[in-house]
Amino acid sequence: MPKIRTAALISGRGSNMAALVEAARADDYPADIALVVSSRADAAGLAFATSEGIATALVPSKGQTRDAFEAALEAALRAHGVELIALAGFMRILTPGFVARWEGRMINIHPSLLPDFKGLDTHARAIAAGRTEHGCTVHYVSADLDAGEIIAQARVPVLAGDDAHSLAARVLAQEHRLYPQALASVARRLAPRE
Ligand code: GRF
Repeated sequence: MPKIRTAALISGRGSNMAALVEAARADDYPADIALVVSSRADAAGLAFATSEGIATALVPSKGQTRDAFEAALEAALRAHGVELIALAGFMRILTPGFVARWEGRMINIHPSLLPDFKGLDTHARAIAAGRTEHGCTVHYVSADLDAGEIIAQARVPVLAGDDAHSLAARVLAQEHRLYPQALASVARRLAPRE
């Protein structure tokens, strides 16, 4: 069975992308990370992808219009025959038109138990709200931010004395476990394009 050609879109560290790359090395994993796209030239994840021999594309989000940015992104995806997109710390909101073109073929990982704590600073907000449980969610991307259909979640406890940093680290460990599993489940449901 051919693997689903997947692009990981990053803007920074890229640790979730790296977890996907590592999982995709297995022969029986249903997706291949065929392309890593970064919206920032200084994204640390780009160096990792290059060292793994994965094709990379830099599509800067600064200094160009939203339309030009998305046209360049779409062109990179098409050029590499991408069938599925995994957003992995990609700090750019995509337009409803772009999202519609990739409906059912674009997923994201978010560091909270959605629908709680959409948006940024999720760990600090979970602590401030007095939550005893927090976690991460993989979901389909829809036009509304962090609101698409949920694919999988992982939970962690919020411990006494946690700050945003310690809680983020606990959640991140779960992200690295959850995202490869969720991507695999989505890829298995997609027939490769002819
Ligand atoms: C992760 O916490 C992810 O859930 C969020 O941004 C962070 C990206 O980290 N969307 P990394 O770039 O994958 O290391």
